[in-house]
Amino acid sequence: MEMLANKKVLIIGATGGIGTETAKLLKQSQANLFMTSRNRKRLENLADELQVPKDQLFEMDVTDSRQVNEVADTIHDKHGQVDILINASGVGILKSIDKLTDEDFSHSLDVNLKGTFYLLRAFVPPMKESKKGMIVNLPGVLGKVPMAGAAAYAATKYGVNGLTKSVREELRRTEVRITNLYLGGTDTPFWDEIDMPVNRKKFVTAKEAGRAVWFLCQQPNSGVVSEMVLQPFNHQAI
Ligand SMILES: NC(=O)c1ccc[n+]([C@@H]2O[C@H](COP(=O)([O-])OP(=O)(O)OC[C@H]3O[C@@H](n4cnc5c(N)ncnc54)[C@H](OP(=O)(O)O)[C@@H]3O)[C@@H](O)[C@H]2O)c1
Repeated sequence: MEMLANKKVLIIGATGGIGTETAKLLKQSQANLFMTSRNRKRLENLADELQVPKDQLFEMDVTDSRQVNEVADTIHDKHGQVDILINASGVGILKSIDKLTDEDFSHSLDVNLKGTFYLLRAFVPPMKESKKGMIVNLPGVLGKVPMAGAAAYAATKYGVNGLTKSVREELRRTEVRITNLYLGGTDTPFWDEIDMPVNRKKFVTAKEAGRAVWFLCQQPNSGVVSEMVLQPFNHQAI
């Protein structure tokens, strides 16, 4: 396993259910954390708990390419390239096709797909140049299989799948690793606003999902875990 101590790890969406659990474990492993959220207060509360320096926190909306580029420039100028980029941001708008609005569809695309594109475009170049680095994405099983009510969400996550795998092809002559974690239903605030009959008690816990990300961050240098699947027992979609 690769040691995480002093590794520069940037977590996008660190205040989310999975992002927070991942951050806690990475901190325990003495990683040097950089964290983002749109909500400064929540980010600062988490940073206080984990003792992350304030200048390593960034208020950032992934739908705004300018903000993403500014954060990337600030980190690269001051600290050099990040060793690991974890994209734990995302939105879940789960509605049947007749109920999906233009705004639902556009917002899903903006956060999940365009956000991932902006992040990759900003953070991949220094990794490509040094031929080193790791990117962990969370497309979820709905990036691979369909589900009723998930047309907009799955469209974005299938997109993330195609986007990240194509970028992987561009990085073939490097040791930059791109890992996709395909999670099934995970009990986080993601589900709070979703109107769908689900049994969250049977979901993967946020802690277990965070542990999976933490594990992936420690892949041995000799190989790549290109993907991992973690799903609830009662809903094994893959
Ligand atoms: N929970 C599941 O069942 C499940 C299953 C498979 C995959 N996933 C994926 O796992 C990732 C994390 O999900 P989660 O369950 O931890 O959800 P969550 O608790 O709702 O957290 C989502 C995170 O995304 C951030 N975010 C939302 N919109 C953003 C924007 N425009 N710009 C920047 N950040 C934004 C939020 O940060 P702020 O609001 O603080 O800005 C929050 O930290 C998502 O990509 C999700 O699709 C989740």
